[in-house]
Amino acid sequence: MNTGLLKEISIRQPGQNEAMPYELLLDADPSIAAIEKYLETSEIYVAVLKGKVVAIVVLYPLDKDTFEIKNIAVEERFQGNGIGKLLLKTATQIAIDKGAKDIVIGTSNSGIGQLYLYQRNGFEITGIKRNFFLDNYPEPIFENGIQCKHMIMLRKKL
Ligand code: ACO
Repeated sequence: MNTGLLKEISIRQPGQNEAMPYELLLDADPSIAAIEKYLETSEIYVAVLKGKVVAIVVLYPLDKDTFEIKNIAVEERFQGNGIGKLLLKTATQIAIDKGAKDIVIGTSNSGIGQLYLYQRNGFEITGIKRNFFLDNYPEPIFENGIQCKHMIMLRKKL
C-alpha cells in the first residue's frame, strides 16, 4: 500500500456540468440503466488525485433513516491503496451528518474482496437477495472464477 498516495487524495462532490465517470461506475455495476436511475436521486462523491477523478461513491436515500451505498469504485491502478476504505468512511460520515440511523450496501456472492472490506469496516450481513444478478442482468457475470448470482446485503448501525 502506498500511504503517501492517500494523503494526496481529496474528496468532493462533482460540479454541476462535470461528466460522470461512467467507466468507474460500470466497474462496480454493469447495468447502465440501474446506474442512471439511482444517480438521479443520490449523493455523489468523487476522490481526486492530481486533478483527476480516480474513485467514486454513490449514496442513495433508501428511506428516511437509511442510505444505501449503491456504487463504490476505485480506478484499477489505484486499488489497494486505502482509497476504497476512505470512501466507505466518508460515505458513513455523510450518512451520520444527514441523520441516518443505518447504512447498507449490497455486493455479489463472488465479491470476496468487497465482502472482506465491508465486514472489516463494520458492516454485517443481513440477508441475501437470491438470484438477483441472474434475474436482473442479461449476461452471466464471473468474478474470482465464481458466478455472480446472489446479492449479499450488509448493514451498519450508525
Ligand atoms: N480482494 C482482497 N482484499 C481486498 C480487495 C480484493 N478485491 N479489495 C480490497 N481489499 C482489502 C484490502 O486488502 C484492504 O485490507 P486491509 O484494510 O486489511 O489492509 C481493504 O480491503 C481496503 O482496501 P482498499 O485499498 O481501501 O480498497 P480499494 O481502494 O482497492 O477499493 C474497491 C475497494 C472499491 C472494492 C475496489 O477494489 C474496486 O473499485 N473494485 C471494482 C469495483 C467494485 O467491485 N466495486 C464494489 C461493488 S459493490 C458496490 O458498488 C455497492
